[in-house]
Amino acid sequence: MASESEKLYSGRLAGTIDPILEKLNSSIEVDQHLSEVDIRGSIAYAKALEKAGILSKAELEKILSGLEKISEEVSKGTLVITKSDEDIHTAVERRLKELIGDVAGKLHTGRSRNDQVVTDLRMLMKSSITTLTSQLQQLIRTLVERSSTEIEVILPGYTHLQRAQPIRWSHLLLSHAVALTRDSERLSEVKKRISVLPLGSGALAGNPLGLDRELLRKELDFSTISINSIDAVSDRDFVLEFLSTASLIMIHLSRLAEDLIIFSTKEFGFITLSDAFCTGSSLMPQKKNPDSLELIRSKTGRVIGRLTGMLVILKALPSAYNKDLQEDKEAVIDVIDTLTAVLPLTTGVISTLQIHKEQMERSLSPEMLATDLANHLVHKGMPFRQAHTVVGKAVHLAETKGVTLNQLSAEDLKSISPMLGSDISQVFNPQTSVEQYTSPGGTAKSAVTQQIEQIKELLKRQKE
Ligand code: ARG
Repeated sequence: MASESEKLYSGRLAGTIDPILEKLNSSIEVDQHLSEVDIRGSIAYAKALEKAGILSKAELEKILSGLEKISEEVSKGTLVITKSDEDIHTAVERRLKELIGDVAGKLHTGRSRNDQVVTDLRMLMKSSITTLTSQLQQLIRTLVERSSTEIEVILPGYTHLQRAQPIRWSHLLLSHAVALTRDSERLSEVKKRISVLPLGSGALAGNPLGLDRELLRKELDFSTISINSIDAVSDRDFVLEFLSTASLIMIHLSRLAEDLIIFSTKEFGFITLSDAFCTGSSLMPQKKNPDSLELIRSKTGRVIGRLTGMLVILKALPSAYNKDLQEDKEAVIDVIDTLTAVLPLTTGVISTLQIHKEQMERSLSPEMLATDLANHLVHKGMPFRQAHTVVGKAVHLAETKGVTLNQLSAEDLKSISPMLGSDISQVFNPQTSVEQYTSPGGTAKSAVTQQIEQIKELLKRQKE
């Protein structure tokens, strides 16, 4: 363990740190996720220091070989963290000194943990977003594939969770896919704003060594260099943007989960989830619970909580680095971990669930075609408002008589409107009903096929 005299700021502060503060101040546990990017950042920084004449060639070689050794230790899991390692930056520097001696102390020249930590975080997020995007696109593809195969299946569509109009099962699946394509687009937008290099901003004032920041940018694969050093160390907009995109993803997954939970109840009986994505009850032997979907729904609350937490933290801060910012990594890493689990879980549920076509069709009760009946009257020249009232009366009459809308007698119908003739029987066909909605976005087969093509096209472009 490093002694107190070896602490970073032991020149300025006398005595030992309060143990409670030491525990609270330490970010090393969360920071372990940054080990690899922190070392990459230091390798690039050492090269820039050599170019600026701060390090000799030989010193650079020594530092690079030390950093590579630490990188190996990290990947083997043998890098030992000591109690006095406040964070990953401190740990790497301490280990470097153990390996190569005092020359290690030159690496931090002109650098601050303020520009270092935010560079690390941006690097970590960039690579995580690449993984998350491909998981998200896999889920979208799964939804699109099911939509193609099951395009003939019709089920009740709901508004206010009440039977509304017949729709294609594919149409519903695609509604979820479209929402997720917007999220995929958002992730790539966020990634653009993450790809701005803060390194070389120092604590807040910039770098006094004539450092080649362009070299750093290229080495670390950033798109641009931050414009203003104070902004560079203060800015966590990209964290909020990521967390809010993540929250939207989760809200979309939660909506999908909720639809499927309802459909999987005995009362609906539209789908059966694969046993692999369910659990049982410790008490009730008959139970099969949709835990996968419930967890997806609950993790949404967790992710929104992370976003809310960061919004509140950032709201109170003055310019430049403040220790409050240390919370950002825990929030981001937790959300990355959550999404990394939840996205493939959703893909698994969707690709393995079984649908019950007959049960879906049985639920298409005739009153769901009331709008079609009104449209039938409209085609005969009746103004829609009047048609709406006429059909409303027919529905009411059927309800009082305890029959379905299509079981009303010819006399009953005539008593409501002379325009309700025997030709209305052709209206009561869900198949022809859905086929009316041919305008783009609708539930007709041609319109749904068009949506499938559009999403495939979007996915292709998002890949490029
Ligand atoms: N562990 C710190 C964080 O995560 C690193 C930056 C510390 N900077 C400082 N001036 N104390 O934010």
